[in-house]
Amino acid sequence: MLILGIETSCDETSAALVEDGRRIVTSAVHSQAEIHKTFDGVVPEIASRNHLEKILPVLDEALAARPAGSVDAVAATSGPGLIGSLLVGLSAAKAAAYALDKPLIPVNHIAAHMYSPHLFYDIPFPYISLVASGGHTLLYRVHSHTDARLMGSTIDDAVGEAYDKVAKLLGLGYPGGPVIDRLAREGDATAIPAFRDMPKIFPDNPGDRYNFSYSGLKTAVAYRLRGLELTDRTVRDAAAAFQKAAVEMLVRKSLNALADCGWKRLVVSGGVAANSALRKECERLRSDGYEVYSAPAEYCGDNAAMVAGRAFADYQNGVRGGLETDAFSRLDFIRKGKRITRDG
Ligand code: KG4
Ligand code: ZN
Repeated sequence: MLILGIETSCDETSAALVEDGRRIVTSAVHSQAEIHKTFDGVVPEIASRNHLEKILPVLDEALAARPAGSVDAVAATSGPGLIGSLLVGLSAAKAAAYALDKPLIPVNHIAAHMYSPHLFYDIPFPYISLVASGGHTLLYRVHSHTDARLMGSTIDDAVGEAYDKVAKLLGLGYPGGPVIDRLAREGDATAIPAFRDMPKIFPDNPGDRYNFSYSGLKTAVAYRLRGLELTDRTVRDAAAAFQKAAVEMLVRKSLNALADCGWKRLVVSGGVAANSALRKECERLRSDGYEVYSAPAEYCGDNAAMVAGRAFADYQNGVRGGLETDAFSRLDFIRKGKRITRDG
């Protein structure tokens, strides 16, 4: 089954063709990062307008490999995300599905991230899924593609959001993740005395064993930068100290979830899953006997291949959209212990 996937939830315009949820035929991604850099973050209105400009060229690029008539279904991210941006991709998908007379499959953005490693590996269930992105930091226990239950989440900022905010403090621009990652590798987390006592990770008390908190970490960096001259050296060292604490919390909370479920299988996804320190930690976990999966770095951030992949699984489970399918911006409908589906 060949699915055309479309992703426009934030600042990437992407279209992809994926066969049977496993074989990526084409994947076209246009990033708006350069446009939003000037503003140190994504400006929703500019994002929507740029999606409008790029959606057809990106679709043409993805469809160059196969005739449009060979597409069996069209999928698009319907939420959560920026509402104006989502509407561009979802409307394009509706138009394509209508014109081709093929089913439309609306896809949850979080579920698409969670699926991304499945594009590359046969991953048995159950497992713990860590989703670490610019908008979300979530831990699920996953029993099947239709049964993912939320265990914990950030109580304030998402980890990627913290990367972006700390990058701003360090004068590094947007997006912050990749540049902090690169500089942190050359830095020393203990070199600046003030950064030696970064706040202890969010406590493991019973209500928060699987929860994350990143806004305090960002503030701790802000306080420690006061009176400090920002040089190439201090920026690298501060980046290293922040990254160490940020990644430590992701790993610690994931290990809590794994231990409490008695499982050894972890699936990591979202833009932050591309982080080199986190990937190194995953490697360490593997040598400790855990099974850890993540997509190649270029498929961790927003892309339409994961949307088309997820749509294949959803389609097998009866998910269908229509011209009345609406976009939604928030994740509010997902509550602890509830299924990931919107009305679950
Ligand atoms: O999944 P994603 O593309 O979009 C959302 O759904 O939010 O994630 C984007 C986030 C941004 O905050 C970006 O700074 C972060 O992922 N990111 C990284 C890295 N690459 C991207 N964070 C840390 N290290 C990286 N290498
Ligand atoms: Zn995303």
